[in-house]
Amino acid sequence: MLKIRNLTLTLGEKKIFDDVSLEVTRGEIYALLGRNGTGKSTLAAVILGLIKPEKGDIYFEDELINDLSLTERAKRGIILAWQKNITVQGLTVRDYVRVSAPNGISDAEVEGHLEAVGLSCGEYLDRVIDGKLSGGERKRIELASVLAAKPKLAILDEPDSGIDAVSLVMVESAIRRMAQDGAVLLITHTEDILGISTRAGILCGARVIREAKPDAAVQYFKNHCDYCETVNTPRLDEIITGSVNP
Ligand SMILES: Nc1ncnc2c1ncn2[C@@H]1O[C@H](COP(=O)(O)OP(=O)(O)O)[C@@H](O)[C@H]1O
Ligand SMILES: [Mg+2]
Repeated sequence: MLKIRNLTLTLGEKKIFDDVSLEVTRGEIYALLGRNGTGKSTLAAVILGLIKPEKGDIYFEDELINDLSLTERAKRGIILAWQKNITVQGLTVRDYVRVSAPNGISDAEVEGHLEAVGLSCGEYLDRVIDGKLSGGERKRIELASVLAAKPKLAILDEPDSGIDAVSLVMVESAIRRMAQDGAVLLITHTEDILGISTRAGILCGARVIREAKPDAAVQYFKNHCDYCETVNTPRLDEIITGSVNP
């Protein structure tokens, strides 16, 4: 569904991606795992069309989308849930979710999306988005709006951050739902949410240093990355290119 080929990007003096290739197939929840500052959010911005790379091709459903605008990519179904909490103030939760739906949406559907992320609609529909909502609530409202957009590829940037254990279960089920109708690129810097992924890639030193099944990726990350003191500088023997299926 999504194919990134030989992506190279330098921002300022820093090489963010050095010949990165990555593929997310239909139905997959591909976890992109990496410590802070390794370029995960930047990769989301590149796929979305916010940042133009120096080199590399991005295909979506076999179409080369390098030259498509942000809007054209969104129309094709590439939708991002931002890492930063929603900052819009003054809209009701209902309207925030509703504006994401490309062809309009009924109240019942808005309610369904809120329930899917564990927000009871009775309590939240008419709530005005303001500073009184917790970070976890804002994250989940953002995810409800992604559900409303009916994405083909949902890029979720740290959807688990600031979420308590109970809400996490609902967030995970919403993510699974997104993958049923398309695919999910799940960006995270913790292993906690990897259990729902089908495959994981670890980003370090401008490269995807290895791809593995979730269990193996979690083990690797725990043993090598969580307490790494030289973040973003992998040793040569840590780099294993080549992917597990596909
Ligand atoms: N516009 C920019 N100009 C220069 N450097 C940037 C820019 N955006 C991000 N960076 C740098 O790129 C690196 C990766 O950032 P980011 O993608 O946010 O990492 P992550 O999401 O993995 O924590 C960081 O070192 C960050 O400071
Ligand atoms: Mg980030």
